[in-house]
This record gives sequence, C-alpha cells and structure tokens, in this order.
Amino acid sequence: MTIQTILCDAIKKLGENKTTTPHLDAELLLCYALEKDIRCPKTEVELLSTSVDRSSTSVFGHRMSIITREHLFTHPEKKLTKFQLANYKKLINKRIKGEPVAYLTNHKQFYGLDFYVNKNVLIPRPETELITHNVERITHNTQHTTCNTQHVTFIDVGTGSGCIIISIIKQIQSQFPISPALPSEAGQANFKFLALDISKPALAVARKNAKIHNVYNKIKFLHGNLLEPVILKSKIFKKRQNPPPNRRGDSDEATFLQGDLLKPLLDKSSIVNCQSSIIITANLPYLTPAQIKNSPSIKYEPKLALSAGSDGLKYYKKLFKQINVMRSTLALLDLSAGLCIPHYAFHVLCEIDQSQTHKIKKILKKEFCEFNLTIKKDLSGKNRLIIIELDNK
Ligand SMILES: C[S@@+](CC[C@H](N)C(=O)[O-])C[C@H]1O[C@@H](n2cnc3c(N)ncnc32)[C@H](O)[C@@H]1O
Repeated sequence: MTIQTILCDAIKKLGENKTTTPHLDAELLLCYALEKDIRCPKTEVELLSTSVDRSSTSVFGHRMSIITREHLFTHPEKKLTKFQLANYKKLINKRIKGEPVAYLTNHKQFYGLDFYVNKNVLIPRPETELITHNVERITHNTQHTTCNTQHVTFIDVGTGSGCIIISIIKQIQSQFPISPALPSEAGQANFKFLALDISKPALAVARKNAKIHNVYNKIKFLHGNLLEPVILKSKIFKKRQNPPPNRRGDSDEATFLQGDLLKPLLDKSSIVNCQSSIIITANLPYLTPAQIKNSPSIKYEPKLALSAGSDGLKYYKKLFKQINVMRSTLALLDLSAGLCIPHYAFHVLCEIDQSQTHKIKKILKKEFCEFNLTIKKDLSGKNRLIIIELDNK
C-alpha cells in the first residue's frame, strides 16, 4: 500500500468514528509510524533536544523530523513496509478508541519546544502557554526595574511534564544571553528553578524532559503536596510540624542551633534565596466532577492532574494558604539577615476555568490583605490566567 492510499483509508475511518481532526491525526500518526522504523534510539534524545520553529509544519521538531507532513505529500507513491503498515493500523485503531495522538507518539509541542509525554502526565495545552508568556514579561520588567544582582526564584507547582518551568528557562536563556553586562549566567547565580509534583511518575517525565532540553542541572525537582517541600525543606520546620511521638504520644524533641539570631535557620533553608523575587506558576487540577464527566476526550489523562473537588478550587485554596505561610517564613528569614524591610516580590500565576473567576476573587480577598490581580484571556476569549502580585510586607 502507498502513503496516499493508506492515508485516505485512515482519514475515512477516523472521520466515520467522529474524530474531530481526522486529516491531521492520520498524517501525524503516519509520520510517526514511518519515523519509528528508521529512528535509532541513540539519536532520539539528540533529535528531541532541538527547539522547534513554531511556524514550521514539521511534526516532531526541526532536526528530529526525519519524516515531515510535507514528506507525505511529496512522496504519495512511496510504499509502506509490512512493519510500518502493521504499526500504523495499530495506531489508527487506538486513535479510533479515543487515545490522544500525543500519548500514541509520546510527543507534544509547547511554547515552540518538543516535550516527551506519557500517560503519567497531562498533555500540555496551548492555553497554558499564557503562563510562560506572562512570566517572560514579568522577568523582563523585574530585571529592568531592579538591580541585576537580585535573585529570582521560580517555583512551578504541579509541574507534570515540566513544560512550564523548562520553557521559562529556555526563554530566560534567550532573554539574558551571557553578556559582560550581567554578573552571572542565567540559571546560575541569579535564577533558581524549582519543579514540584505530588506524582513521582510525573516528576520522572519532567526530569526526562529537562535532560532532553539540556537544563537538568538548573532545576531542583521536589516531590510533595503543593508547596510543602519548599516550606518544609528545612529539617527544623519538618520536625516542628510533624513531631515524632514519644511514649506519651507527644513530642519533646528539641533542636539546638548555634549561630546569630535566625541565621542558622536561614542557612538550612537555602532552597529559596532570601532577598529573592519569587514567581510561582501553577497549572493545578481545576476541573469539577461534572466537567470531567462531560469531557470524554480527557479519559486517558491522569485523574490526579485534573480533578479538584466539587468547585474545582480545592488545590488553589490550599496553595494560597501555603503561600501565606511561606511569606511569613521568608519575612522572618529576611529579618534575621538584617533586612528591616523584606526585599522579595511575589508573583503567582494560576491557570483557571472561566467559570471560577468570581469565586477565586472571593478566595483571594479572604486570604491576602493586599494584592493586585490581573486576569488574562486565552485565544478563545475566556478568562484563563490569574496573575496575583503580593506586596512584600
Ligand atoms: C493540570 S496538571 C498540569 C501539568 C503541567 N504543569 C502542565 O501545565 O501541563 C496538574 C499537575 O499537578 C499535580 N498535582 C496534583 N495534585 C497535587 C498536589 N497536591 N501537589 C503537587 N502537585 C499536584 C499533578 O500530578 C499534575 O502533574
């Protein structure tokens, strides 16, 4: 069978089974089936690591696209091998059953980069690119309005595939190329990057993507519930919050630290720099049970990445509370470092569903005394991103 005949067949089958993008899906899967046959494992990481020109029609990125969609159109007469044909038929059958193309090919593009994905992570969505885009703007402004020696700590909560934090690093690297005017290279002294997730398999995917994109040594990966790994990183806080019970069932354990005022504590919790601007990004689960029930297309994606209680705001409520704890801790640490006025600025960027706009405003008013709120719309004109700016008091 030739490329042309097998494509026509597949498009027809997908169309009959109500796939919304039969042409695109059939073409992408055929590129993948053809490519799989010729790609050797050793070159995969090298091929994946090249960023993708967003205007390009290449399927899996520049250099890695051995087989592009153009290739299909310029070689319609080319015959498929038995192996390619069998593999392609399998892929089409899985697609007919509803399995997403990204899981079938293990690839998804995000912010012009190619990411490895599997069933342990949410497939990155185009609307989430709003987060990276706005972080880019904030970082640009921060660096132009403050001195260059300021630290910025980026914390990506619920990192999943790592698409947000990795695309941020890539942006920063292109915004701040090594130059004599800058005291240090982006990602070394001035910038700290943390990626957090409660799912260990998701963190494994994020690590894999960081290696693919050559930023593995720039990110600290932390496993735990929302911001807890950052707040509890200091062993002291861990002991105080989770004391090991003694025989009477209460804790009498004390930790003795030698040093100037709170300085020993500061040293132990070096996970976030004191005097650091903090930018928290969070695309946490925000769907309600009803929304999940009405979206059959997401049935292959991890529940842990989607479901968030009756109003979909369970995680954001908890996150905002944790941010308050974190701010108090940082304020103490700043004071111990001899700073009368804490020197950090806080930005929090959260992806939401438009229907949550009113409720989330109420929650923010309850949690924070003073804040600036900006709401950004996605390409379909729906409220999608909230940017919370907290003062440094
Ligand atoms: C909607 S997905 C977003 C993934 C990725 N950031 C993106 O934008 O594609 C939400 C992620 O949050 C993680 N998550 C869910 N509950 C969490 C919790 N309590 N603490 C930390 N991460 C959590 C999930 O494992 C999942 O990877």
